[in-house]
Amino acid sequence: MKLSKRLQQIEQLVASDYDHIWDCCCDHGFLGAELLSRPTSATIHFVDIVPQLITQLENRLRRFYPDARERWETHCIDVATLPLAQYSGKQLIIIAGVGGDLMIHFLEAIHQQHAQLNVDLLLCPVYQQYALREKLIELNCSLKDEILIAENQRFYEAILVSSAPWATEFGTQKPLHKNGSSNPICVKPSTTTNGFSKATRSWWTISLRRIGRLHCDAATQLSICLIE
Ligand SMILES: C[S@@+](CC[C@H](N)C(=O)[O-])C[C@H]1O[C@@H](n2cnc3c(N)ncnc32)[C@H](O)[C@@H]1O
Repeated sequence: MKLSKRLQQIEQLVASDYDHIWDCCCDHGFLGAELLSRPTSATIHFVDIVPQLITQLENRLRRFYPDARERWETHCIDVATLPLAQYSGKQLIIIAGVGGDLMIHFLEAIHQQHAQLNVDLLLCPVYQQYALREKLIELNCSLKDEILIAENQRFYEAILVSSAPWATEFGTQKPLHKNGSSNPICVKPSTTTNGFSKATRSWWTISLRRIGRLHCDAATQLSICLIE
């Protein structure tokens, strides 16, 4: 199963220390299958609301991953009803390829049902990124990583957050900003004294490398403006 560039870059954001990874809105399950190929003990949960997709996916997983049967589960459910409390350990919820509005609906439902649970979320919406960021901020999530992905002349943001609020002692986690880390105005003042330009430039170096050789469009020009 060959991953699209977008899914490859999302996959690279997934650390290897999770016990349970939820590939939500999994469709054909390409992303989850790639994660299943990794030499880790994480259980991969494939979630989609369409029964036929889940049946086909189960058949493929049985066929291509016979040795990993203990490491995957399928769930034909609405993402709003993820049974997170039934599993222990470190959990990551990945939602990609759907709109930010639908993700907001999922996040509200998950937050309502599992307010005390500390999970990571890796989100790559196709639209409504700004509204999604506003919701993540409202829910007190903190930023772990974020990248800009260019694929087929389109740009996607992939945002990795923790449901735990940001606090200075967390070290690697940061506050989340409505416009992304790209916007220097959004960088917290305490970070500015401690290598603001280095952090910002390194984020943009990575972003621009990912944008690669695509022709400049409105979004690319905006990015370059922000660097200067
Ligand atoms: C375009 S695919 C995304 C596939 C993959 N995640 C990606 O990023 O390429 C969207 C999938 O979301 C599923 N979906 C839509 N609403 C859902 C819901 N409420 N709960 C679970 N799956 C849902 C659809 O059945 C479809 O398979």
